[in-house]
Amino acid sequence: MRVLFVCLGNICRSPLAEGLFQEKVVAAGLGGAVEVDSAGTGGWHVGAPPDRRMTATAARRGTDLSQLKARQLVRHDLDDYDHVFVMDKANLHDTLALDPDGDHGTRVRLFREFDPEPGDYQVPDPYYGGPEGFDHVFDIADRTTDAILQRLAEVYGWDLASSS
Ligand code: 4NP
Repeated sequence: MRVLFVCLGNICRSPLAEGLFQEKVVAAGLGGAVEVDSAGTGGWHVGAPPDRRMTATAARRGTDLSQLKARQLVRHDLDDYDHVFVMDKANLHDTLALDPDGDHGTRVRLFREFDPEPGDYQVPDPYYGGPEGFDHVFDIADRTTDAILQRLAEVYGWDLASSS
């Protein structure tokens, strides 16, 4: 089972979602069963670690992003991953543009479709804003990765009870 999170730069939102989801998968004892990664639709930051403001916010709240490195989404990802969660509607457009035949559309979903408080269904890009934007994104990604793990557990019959 492979799960991919996608944003624009792969230095703020999607690495955070990757880090949080990875940590929850391991805590649930599913580390050997679920592979987690993230990618950006844009290529500007390839090879770079996450934005230091995102890394600092995540570290303060208990999630380590320091080992992650940005990569660009490639067409092959849509074959390789079972579920692709994108952060906003531009990411959805750009991701589906790699799938001209429409074969993979059902595996590509807006991340916040699973948010219990979905707002406008998009994760705001914190890159050009102030520090509070990073905490806001953390709140969204934390509760949404919880909800996605619950949903996948229902679909695939995973027992999450052992994690608590
Ligand atoms: P992300 O944020 O998509 O959450 O990683 C961004 C990072 C960099 C840029 C835009 C958004 N950029 O234009 O460089």
